[in-house]
Amino acid sequence: MRLSNKTIEEVKNRIDIVDVIGDFVQLKKAGRNFRALSPFTNEKTPSFFVVPHKEIYKDFSSGKAGDAIHFVMEYDGLSYPDAIVYLAKKYGIEVEQEEQTDEQMEAQNERESLFIISNFAKDHFVHNLWETEEGRSIGLSYFHERGFKDDTIKKFELGYSLDEWHNLEETAGKKGYNTGLLEKTGLVVVKDDKHYDRFRGRVMFPIHNATGKAIAFGARILTKDKKQPKYLNSPETDIYHKSDVLYGLFQAKRAIRQEDNCYLVEGYTDVISMHQAGIENVVSSSGTALTENQIRLIRRHTENITVLFDGDEAGIRASMRGIDMILKEGMKVRCVVFPEGEDPDSYARKLGAMNYRAYLEEERQDFITFKARLLLKGTQNDPIKKADTIVSIVQSISIVPDPVARSVYLKETSNILDIEESVLIAELNKILIQKRHEDRRDAQHKEKQAPDTGELVEQVKESVREQKVDPVFVQEQECIRLLVNYGFNEVEEEYKLYDHYLEELEGIEFQTPVFQEILELFRQKIESGNIPDPDDFFKDSPEHIKKTLIHLVSEQHEVSENWQRYHIYIPKEEELITNAVYANLLRLKFRKIRTLLEKNRDSIKEAQEEEKLTELMRINMELKKAEMEYAKPLGIVISS
Ligand code: CTP
Ligand code: MN
Repeated sequence: MRLSNKTIEEVKNRIDIVDVIGDFVQLKKAGRNFRALSPFTNEKTPSFFVVPHKEIYKDFSSGKAGDAIHFVMEYDGLSYPDAIVYLAKKYGIEVEQEEQTDEQMEAQNERESLFIISNFAKDHFVHNLWETEEGRSIGLSYFHERGFKDDTIKKFELGYSLDEWHNLEETAGKKGYNTGLLEKTGLVVVKDDKHYDRFRGRVMFPIHNATGKAIAFGARILTKDKKQPKYLNSPETDIYHKSDVLYGLFQAKRAIRQEDNCYLVEGYTDVISMHQAGIENVVSSSGTALTENQIRLIRRHTENITVLFDGDEAGIRASMRGIDMILKEGMKVRCVVFPEGEDPDSYARKLGAMNYRAYLEEERQDFITFKARLLLKGTQNDPIKKADTIVSIVQSISIVPDPVARSVYLKETSNILDIEESVLIAELNKILIQKRHEDRRDAQHKEKQAPDTGELVEQVKESVREQKVDPVFVQEQECIRLLVNYGFNEVEEEYKLYDHYLEELEGIEFQTPVFQEILELFRQKIESGNIPDPDDFFKDSPEHIKKTLIHLVSEQHEVSENWQRYHIYIPKEEELITNAVYANLLRLKFRKIRTLLEKNRDSIKEAQEEEKLTELMRINMELKKAEMEYAKPLGIVISS
C-alpha cells in the first residue's frame, strides 16, 4: 500500500502525542511533561516521559524515543504506513492511496482478492467446525479430546474442512470467487483439467499475518492413515512466504513485548496449548529450521528467545546450528528441554498452568551453558573429544557480537568445562583473529584472485606490474570458471546453469580474448545441439585454451572450502554455486557498466557539438542509473 502524501500530512497535523500515547499508557502530569511506567519493560518506577511541546516521548528504561507515529509503530509492531492508517482512523481522516499504474493496480487487486478469499475460507472452516454435524462430531470433538477449550479454539480461529471434494470451491463459487483465484491461494488444486479442494476432512489451523489476516493453512489429519501426511500445508503463494511468517506471532506480539521474551516451539499445537496454560509469548517455526527473516520478525519485539526442545537428543543436536544463527543476530538465546517423550504441548497439559510456568522458569538456561553441558555429556574422560567440545563452544561464543556478553559466556563455560578461563580466552582470540583475517580476505577475494599458470600468467604479470588487477578481468575469469565447472548443473528441470549464463551474457563481449574464445566455443557447441559429454567438452580445443582451463578447473573446490573455514554456516554446494553465479553476473555487468561510463566520460570531454554532447550526457545518465541498480545488491556504495 502506498499512502498519498496528503493523508500523511493530514495525520501529522492532527496528532496530539499525549492523546495518542494516552490510549495505551496511563500518563500522569509531571510539570510540563507527562510520566508513566514504561510500556516496553517491566519497570517498577516510572521512567517513561512524554514531552508535549517537543512532540516526543522518551523511555529511559528501554532507550526508545521518538514521535507519536514512532510510538505506535514500536508499541504495536506496525510498519510506518500501518501506523499512519491506525492514526487516520483514530482521527477520522480519510485514507487516500497514491495513484497507481494499471499494472500495480492489477497486482494490488489480485493480492487483495487472495486475502479476501483466504479469509473467506477461514470463516468457512470455522463455520464447518461449529455449525455442521460432521464438523462438530469429528473436528470439534477432536479438539476437545486434546483439551482445547472453546475460547482457545475461537482465539486461534481453528476450523474444519468437510470430507468432500468440492465443498469449499462450490461455496466460494456461490460468492463469485473464481477457481483461478482459489488455485492461487492454494486452496484448490488443479491437475490436468480436474480441480478439487486441497484440504478435506482435516482440522484447520489458519496462519495469520502480522495484521491478523489468514494467509495460509495447516491442516491436520484425524485418521491413522499412514499413507497420508499428518499435516498438509498451504503452498507458497503471492501472500504467503513460509520463511517470512511465524505461526502465532499475531496472537503473541503484545505478550512478547510485555515479557520481553519469545518462546520458540515446533508445532501449531505447542503454541495453542501454551496459550491455554497462560503463556502467550510463543511462536512456532512450523517444524522447519528458523530463517533469518523469522529471527528478525521476533527481534522487532524482543532481544530474547527461549527455545523449547522436546526430549530427543538427536533433534536437539540437529538444531544447534540454527541457534548459532540467532546468536549471530545479537539476540540472547535460552533453552529449556522437556523430559524424554514430552513436547511443549503434552507437558503443558500434564503439569497444568502453574507448574508449567514454574518448570520453564527453573529449567531455563542460557544457550552457551546448555550447549556446554550437552556436549560435555558425550566426552567423559576422553581428552580429544573434550578438546573438540571446547573449540565448538568457543566458536559459538565467537559468533556473539557483543564483547561484554562474550566474556560473561567465557567465565560460565570455564566453570562448566572445568578449564582455565585464560585457555578459553586464548582460543577465542585465535578464532576472532582468524575470522577477521578471513572476512578481509573474502571481501577482497573476488577482486584479487590472481591466477598464476597457463595463458593467464603474462596478463597477470602485466597487471601486477601496473600495480592493479583489472576487476573486469577478474570477473570474466570467475564467469568462465563457474561456467566450465558447474555449467552442466541443473538449475531446474530442463534448464542448466549454462543456459542461464548464455542467456545472461547475450550481447556481452569479454575484453580478455581467451575468455571470449572460450565463451564462444561453449555457445557454438551448445547451439549446435550436438552437446558433448561435459568431461570431453574441450577435448579438441586449441592448446592455449586447454591450458587456461586446466588452471581454472583445478580451483573447483575453492568456494566451499573457503566457507568451511567460517564454521558458521556451511551451505549446500548448489546453494553456494547459485550465489556465486548471481554475484558473478552482477559484478561482471557492474564492471562492464563502469568501463562504459569511463569511455563515455572521455567522449564527453572531447565532444564539440552541442547535439553530440546532449546525447552523451543522456547516455551518461542511463549508465549511472544502471550502475546504481547493480551496485545496490552488491553492497557497493557509489559516491557522486
Ligand atoms: N509438520 C508439517 N508436516 C508434517 C509434520 C509436521 O508441516 N507432516 C509441522 C507442523 O507445523 C507441526 C510441526 O511440524 O505443527 C511439528 O510437528 P509435530 O510435532 O509432529 O506436530 P504437532 O504440532 O505436535 O501435532 P500433534 O501434537 O497433533 O501431533
Ligand atoms: Mn505434538
